[in-house]
Amino acid sequence: MFETIEKLPDDPILGLLAAYRSDNNPNKIDLSVGVYKDETGNTPIFDAVKKAETQKLENEITKTYTGIEGDPVFCDAIQRLVLGDDHNVILEKRSAAISAPGGSGALRVAGEVINSVNPDACLWVSIPSWPNHTPLLGTAGLTVKDYSYYDGENHVIKTDEMLSQISKLGKDDILLLHGCCHNPSGADLEMDHWKEITRLAQQNGFTPFVDCAYQGLGKGLDEDAEGLRYMASQLPEMIIAYSCSKNFGLYRDRVGSTIIITENASAAEAAQTHMKSVARRLYSVPPAHGAIIVGIILGDEELKTSWKNELNEMQHRINDLRTLFTGSVKNKVSSHDFSFIKSQYGMFSIMGLSLEQVSRLRDEFSIYMVNNSRVNIAGISPTNVEYLTDSIATVL
Ligand SMILES: Cc1ncc(COP(=O)(O)O)c(C=O)c1O
Repeated sequence: MFETIEKLPDDPILGLLAAYRSDNNPNKIDLSVGVYKDETGNTPIFDAVKKAETQKLENEITKTYTGIEGDPVFCDAIQRLVLGDDHNVILEKRSAAISAPGGSGALRVAGEVINSVNPDACLWVSIPSWPNHTPLLGTAGLTVKDYSYYDGENHVIKTDEMLSQISKLGKDDILLLHGCCHNPSGADLEMDHWKEITRLAQQNGFTPFVDCAYQGLGKGLDEDAEGLRYMASQLPEMIIAYSCSKNFGLYRDRVGSTIIITENASAAEAAQTHMKSVARRLYSVPPAHGAIIVGIILGDEELKTSWKNELNEMQHRINDLRTLFTGSVKNKVSSHDFSFIKSQYGMFSIMGLSLEQVSRLRDEFSIYMVNNSRVNIAGISPTNVEYLTDSIATVL
């Protein structure tokens, strides 16, 4: 069967990381892969995670399977984290959650459930979006189409075009939105956008599907969920795919959650049986370690406060780096205005450089970014920013 099998190309972003690692230039900078990094370039483990892991180690008495839905403490805590304890959806028990293998697993479970309950469903993905959205959800059987989102020349959301397209969606359409920290653009929906999209969903019956992979890394834990909380408070149905990879730093432990909001509590219970049925045939039961850690942290006031503080520091550091970069590049480049970087949120922005300029930065200066000039802001630091902006000035 495999006699004539041919190699597939490397994943483009992970391929960049490999090239960065083998680069001997002492000034090299990695702005490619989407993981948080501290000033030393390390992706740290949260203190609260370490402490929760110690607790878990001491108290764990079995490694037997969890239920298909995963750890129930985690499932409850994650819904409260994203929606807020006093949200009407929580009080009315109109949502159901399962623990999934990361945000990717959560997206896939949601995609499979959508496809099984409505094989005619069409999923609308922003241009641009996280590059894995389309392959991951398209192979769940959904038809995938694009809607206009970001104007890369003027570095703003294409509000009119986007809303005009969304206004044409109907009951078989699923609108994929980024809860916050839009990947790759960093251009987040404002409250007015959330309100108008909600009004259109009420009017035309499409279902919003919110990918929430960066809660707490944009403006703050509650602020980053404001739009989706508003939407959930107004609409009968909504889907959320949640990732704990970035905001708990649990990347490799694979922690995420699919949350389905329905019109009433019994529909939510039914939705959970569908999520479990999908999970059973995809991977049987989810990994438990990271989900238990998140459950411990969110259930312990001291650990929760410590986690929030650390997340807050990360968020502030990213915003400070945005200001640092903008200030540094401003004095060196007059042909381009990079001030938009300061007004965007989360780890990513698209610099607006050509492929040729991106290639020169990589080949001549060992500065690595994705071909569309998406950068991970967390890869910038006070020690490399001058080299980075000097190099950008040279290629411009
Ligand atoms: C927008 C978006 N959604 C989902 C994910 C998937 O996250 P996870 O690593 O938890 O699967 C990512 C990861 O980068 C992302 O950027």
